[in-house]
Amino acid sequence: MKEINLTTKISVYPIEECSEIEKKLINEAKRVALNAYAPYSKFKVGAAVLLENGQIVIGNNQENAAYPSGLCAERTAIFYANANFPDQKVEAIAIAACCNGEYTKEVVTPCGSCRQVLLEVENRFKKPFKILMYSHECVYVANSIRDLLPLSFGEEMLKSNV
Ligand code: THU
Repeated sequence: MKEINLTTKISVYPIEECSEIEKKLINEAKRVALNAYAPYSKFKVGAAVLLENGQIVIGNNQENAAYPSGLCAERTAIFYANANFPDQKVEAIAIAACCNGEYTKEVVTPCGSCRQVLLEVENRFKKPFKILMYSHECVYVANSIRDLLPLSFGEEMLKSNV
């Protein structure tokens, strides 16, 4: 038997140390979180996607009485970006969440399904992008979704056995 140790790198920034565009992206994620439709969980999430041309695309979670029919903020934002700007590479995505009228003290990290979708976008554009995860105290920054999704399943797997 042998073990494989997987390592990952996340940088932790005080908000003030983020670049101006990153601060803007985080503020957009915070702003749009307030407009989420989350009557069931009351957990409002906002996501802001920075495109290569400088444009920022936003999204938030949209819930449904039939729970699985809802969608997370990250996927709402990234699918809108890809649907409307199919040639624009993604530079970064910021995520923020708000519960009971307050932004979360813990960093908000993307769920497994969103990580898988973000991986597809990195693969599609052959370009890693930053994931900025906001909390009251600090921002966690991953330089690629691969840092949040070890042993991921991607298109290369589909070709590996043919
Ligand atoms: N949610 C997101 O929007 N993004 C995530 O990465 C985690 C969870 C939403 C889904 C649901 O509407 C609510 O948060 C509670 O899970």
